[in-house]
Amino acid sequence: MSHHQSADAPVVTVPALHQWARDGRRLVMTTAYDAVTARLADPAVDMILVGDSVGNVCLGFDNTLPVSMAMMNHHLEAVARTRPRALLVADMPYLSYHLSLDETLRNAGGFLQRGAAAVKLEGGAKRADAIRALVDCEIPVMGHLGLTPQSVHVMGGFKVQGRGSQDALRVLEDAHCLQEAGCFALVLEGIPSELAARITQTLSIPTIGIGAGPHCSGQVLVLHDLLGLTQGHRPKFVRTYVDGLDFLRQALTRWAEDVRGGVFPSPAESYALPAGVQAAVAAWTPAPQTDREAR
Ligand code: KIV
Repeated sequence: MSHHQSADAPVVTVPALHQWARDGRRLVMTTAYDAVTARLADPAVDMILVGDSVGNVCLGFDNTLPVSMAMMNHHLEAVARTRPRALLVADMPYLSYHLSLDETLRNAGGFLQRGAAAVKLEGGAKRADAIRALVDCEIPVMGHLGLTPQSVHVMGGFKVQGRGSQDALRVLEDAHCLQEAGCFALVLEGIPSELAARITQTLSIPTIGIGAGPHCSGQVLVLHDLLGLTQGHRPKFVRTYVDGLDFLRQALTRWAEDVRGGVFPSPAESYALPAGVQAAVAAWTPAPQTDREAR
């Protein structure tokens, strides 16, 4: 047990989450991409997602498509080193579960070997074979339906899904297909509240909503969004609980002013030489430079 886990906070498991959902306790998930954000998030939530949103949130990409397994493993390892008590879910990036079952299993199994307790992947019925194979290899899988960011080019942008009757029924059927395939939970992203409510009502596994209204079994938000650390457009489903950027900018500005004003660091923030060494240092003078060194 690391010093970050307390004895009275047992590690969150998939069966525990199922029990909490049955008890009517809403499930809470956020993202973390490194040790700092993992330690920040862990005491507050039930699940930590190392999301492929690391691509746009931290790595400067426009979307999640360029995120690779190497990048995900790097961020997952940093989060896993903090030994969170929250269930650690690792997001399968684009092309890591599309090419063959063999590659899918190796990639997901590698996540578990690095400390994840579950993986998440996007898509409906066409991902059922991959999900069944993963579950067969003892890998808990979280599905992800609706506005699936890896499909940005098919959707023609980040647009709410399931508004038309055909689309709505397809999302409903996909949700049941993913449950049948063995998913332990589903993320529902960017769909109308009534559709998310119907999915939640008719499934036995919990739903975790993001831009899917209040009638899901739980909610997820990207940590940097809810802490006000993301720049640019924030979707309307994001509630920002602190203007993190403004707060942190003010701190940085004050520090820069203190440096420029000569008031940082203070003696208390500095190391002192013992008196004897001080005298020796003060008495030392540089040796005169030879012609050759001066050139
Ligand atoms: O990558 C991510 O952060 C996600 C969540 C928004 C669900 O998939």
